[in-house]
Amino acid sequence: MNEHKIGDLTLRLSEPVQQDVSWIGQQELLQQILACWTTVTEDDLPLSPRLVGKPGMGKTTLAQAAGKELGRPVYIVQCTMDTRPEDLLVTPVLSEKGHISYHASPLVTAMLEGGVAILDEANRMPEKSWASLAPLLDHRRYVESVIAGVRIPADERFRCCVTMNDDASTYEVPEYMVSRIQPLIALEFPDQDEEREILRYNVDFAPADLLDMTTNFLQEAHRYNLNYSTRDGINIMRYALKLNHARETDVKEAFRIAMEQILGPGADRFEERAAGLFFPGNLKDLSELLQRDPKRDEP
Ligand SMILES: Nc1ncnc2c1ncn2[C@@H]1O[C@H](COP(=O)(O)OP(=O)(O)O)[C@@H](O)[C@H]1O
Ligand SMILES: [Mg+2]
Repeated sequence: MNEHKIGDLTLRLSEPVQQDVSWIGQQELLQQILACWTTVTEDDLPLSPRLVGKPGMGKTTLAQAAGKELGRPVYIVQCTMDTRPEDLLVTPVLSEKGHISYHASPLVTAMLEGGVAILDEANRMPEKSWASLAPLLDHRRYVESVIAGVRIPADERFRCCVTMNDDASTYEVPEYMVSRIQPLIALEFPDQDEEREILRYNVDFAPADLLDMTTNFLQEAHRYNLNYSTRDGINIMRYALKLNHARETDVKEAFRIAMEQILGPGADRFEERAAGLFFPGNLKDLSELLQRDPKRDEP
């Protein structure tokens, strides 16, 4: 494990992500992140953009791909409702011999190593955790670890971006932080060719008919602005292929089963879904309930 010394303090560093990713289509988004990270004069500072979009649309992948493009190690901080300031910065760990060692979070490791930090799903964090990042994400570029009793400055090469779901399952991001995670880069649904290419890249062993079925299904759902994502498409294809393989279910039937188990019954009845009659997550088929004749159920 790598270490880094700040005065008398030794910090144990986190590992960068090893996974290799590629970003397909919408190159403009990649260019925008890289533009945020460039500096145009010696005293210019990089920006830390926030990538916003529905779950499963590729925010984390896009951020990782941008980091890879920069050629620096990439570190991901998975933010949750329970993320405390020390989780973001430095945590003390008690060893068997009873002495305390200090572990640098992926974020602090990126700061020390001049890497890229992705604060993933950062909108889930409580305000107190955001507050600990305020000096890092403005011109000061440092954090204060209360636990380790040090101020940690970021390497010049340190870059950061934040991803956020635009659903409502989260805390409000405080205004003073929003101003520090600018600009906003919004992810939109990919177009037909791009989406087919993304699916093909992620499930490269899928036959063309399943690829077309899934692409058409997702594109139609996007037209109704339903919450079906590229990730849902990937899951549907992978499950359908497993059914096809294990049970010799024909591809069309396997697609239908996979689609309904992943997105819920009636997931392809777009109009009704869009009108709120069905909900993803295997809820009971509401329209069947609504259509049922109550008299028929009487004894
Ligand atoms: N443009 C794209 N290029 C490559 N893969 C993509 C793209 N968009 C989505 N994906 C794939 O879709 C899945 C979900 O992406 P992810 O980045 O986890 O979404 P999010 O972080 O928005 O929830 C991943 O498997 C990812 O590889
Ligand atoms: Mg993500």
